[in-house]
Amino acid sequence: MSADSLKREAAARALDFVEPGMRLGLGTGSTAKHFVALLGERVRAGLDVVGVPTSEATRADAEAAGIRLATLDEVPALDLTVDGADEIAPDLSAIKGGGGALLREKIVAAASARMIVIADEAKWVDTLGRFPLPVEVVPFGLTPTLRAVEAAAQAAGCPGPARLRRTAEGHAFVTDGGHFILDLALGRIADPAGLADRLAAVPGVVEHGLFIGLVRLAVIAGASGVRIET
Ligand code: 5RP
Repeated sequence: MSADSLKREAAARALDFVEPGMRLGLGTGSTAKHFVALLGERVRAGLDVVGVPTSEATRADAEAAGIRLATLDEVPALDLTVDGADEIAPDLSAIKGGGGALLREKIVAAASARMIVIADEAKWVDTLGRFPLPVEVVPFGLTPTLRAVEAAAQAAGCPGPARLRRTAEGHAFVTDGGHFILDLALGRIADPAGLADRLAAVPGVVEHGLFIGLVRLAVIAGASGVRIET
C-alpha cells in the first residue's frame, strides 16, 4: 500500500472523532488534505461543523470542499484539531512544519481541547530528530538568528546545521505569516523540551516545530492496519 493510501486511511479513521456541532482545527499537508476532503464529503451529506484552517492552502481546500470556516477571533476555543506530522514519538511529542505551516498549526492546536495527529507508519519514530526541525524566524537579522539557533541546538546537546529553506526556484521560502524557515538537521533530539526552551529564547525565532504536550492521540496507518496511540 502506498504512503498516500495510508495517509488517507489515517484521515478516514480520524473522522470517527468528529461530532456534529464541533469547532475543528484543520491541519496542513498531504495527510490533512485527505482529512479535509473526507470531512467535506460528510459536510455535504449534512454534518454541521465549523473549521479553522491552519494555512491558506488548507483554507482553499476547505472552501472548495464546502466546509464552513471561521477565524480564531470568531471562534477562539476549538473542540478538536486534526493535523499531520513529520515525526511523532511514543510520548506523542512531534515535529511539525515540513509544510511550513507550523506557526498557525501550533496556535490552532493550543486553542483546541484536543489534538489528533494522523500519519502513516513512517512518521512513527522512537526518538525525534531524523526529520530536520523547522524553526520559523523573522527575516530581519537572519544570519545572527541562524547562528543563535545553531548555538541553542548545541547547548541542548544536539548540534547540527541550520539551513534556510528555499523554494524550487531558489528563493527563500516565505510562510503565510511572512517569515522564513530554518531547517535544523539534528539527527537525534535527546531532550526535546530542553531544545524547545532554548529555541524559544532566541530573539528572531517566531516558533519552532516541536509540539510537546499538545497531541492527545495519534492515528497511525501501517501495512497491518490502523492503530490508535495514546
Ligand atoms: C505542515 C506540517 C505537516 O503536517 C507535516 O509536514 C506532514 O505533512 P504530510 O502530511 O504531507 O506528510 O506540519 O506544516
